[in-house]
Amino acid sequence: MTPSKTLTVALEDRSYGIHIGAGLIEQAGHLLAPVLQKPGAFIVTDDNVAPRYLEPLQKSLGASGIKCDHLILPAGEATKSFANLQVVVEAMLAAKVERSTTAIALGGGVIGDLTGFAASVTLRGIDFVQVPTTLLAQVDSSVGGKTGINTAQGKNLAGSFYQPKAVLVDTDTLKTLPDRERLAGYAEVCKYGLLGDVDFWDWLEQNGARVLSGDNDAITNVIEISCEAKARVVTEDERESGVRALLNLGHTFAHAFEAELGYSGALLHGEAVAIGIVMAFDLSVRLGLCPALDADRVRAHFNAVGLMTKPPVEAQRIAPDVFLGHMMQDKKVADGKITFVLVRGIGQAFLTQDVTQSDVTAIFEAALTV
Ligand code: NAD
Ligand code: GLY
Repeated sequence: MTPSKTLTVALEDRSYGIHIGAGLIEQAGHLLAPVLQKPGAFIVTDDNVAPRYLEPLQKSLGASGIKCDHLILPAGEATKSFANLQVVVEAMLAAKVERSTTAIALGGGVIGDLTGFAASVTLRGIDFVQVPTTLLAQVDSSVGGKTGINTAQGKNLAGSFYQPKAVLVDTDTLKTLPDRERLAGYAEVCKYGLLGDVDFWDWLEQNGARVLSGDNDAITNVIEISCEAKARVVTEDERESGVRALLNLGHTFAHAFEAELGYSGALLHGEAVAIGIVMAFDLSVRLGLCPALDADRVRAHFNAVGLMTKPPVEAQRIAPDVFLGHMMQDKKVADGKITFVLVRGIGQAFLTQDVTQSDVTAIFEAALTV
């Protein structure tokens, strides 16, 4: 059996394939064997994913003669920490990984980001492979080589650019994903349409409910379109010196909410991104850059599918200045100025630093009003 589709992230000697299809974990052995330097791997996963997919992955790798050790971490955003970076690195060293061993991230974006970072520093860099099992990870975080952890100062503030050797997207894993997680991942899907592909956004307005109800054709379509878009952008700008920053539409706002609310699960990353996207559209409208009707369309679709468009009540008690303080810690701050991803309309994102603090404060005040 062959995967339904293989895309390529073209980065010269760091190029790799994204295999997308149903039942791919069962084919992992023969799909991954060609990219492994030796038949030895170390799987990192979490305690929600392990009971479902660890054994099938080990079985498939084993059938191709690939020996594996593994580590199971607690599920959740709080796992993306310095403490767990140490846990992963030391577990791999204790298992006597060699430079030719491959780390395998089996799970969502948390496991992917943490494992990729650990692989990039263990023995000064061992190969790694992504086996994403959330919608968010399948459409975004497993592709492009951004790895990292959260720190006390904010989200994703320590990390590396480190490309995987392959990405294996098994769409069957989404059948066990909780609805809330599927919806959070859908925010990142919407991002691709809103930042640069109005036709995709039109399609999502018509078909979003099919994606969220688990329709396999609709899901496969959004994964392929999203991964194609991401691969294109990463090929053009691997280390985010330009166009890749557009993929952060809504994220500067989102990261401020996540940092303040503490990675506790009260607000998922994708939920924060949905709120941040709405705020980016509202700011663009306020600055006279974007028609109000486009912001209304975004809000209407998010409301229709059940995505958050306003911060949760916990955030509504906090002053805008607190969030502005977090935004100043963003990786895109240059010379003390925040780089914003704003829009001239749906599908027309651009970067600018030309935003006053009072405009940002006004957007927070509106968002934080019950
Ligand atoms: P996650 O990894 O926490 O997974 C969400 C939850 O779903 C977890 O509880 C997990 O155990 C569970 N789960 C995973 N797969 C499952 C399955 N198939 N069935 C049942 N349960 C399953 O969160 P996420 O939304 O996948 O990722 C969010 C993270 O990704 C954030 O830290 C964010 O910063 C990061 N991110 C990184 C990039 C990047 O380019 N590196 C891009 C976007 C987001
Ligand atoms: N998720 C944003 C990026 O990969 O650049």
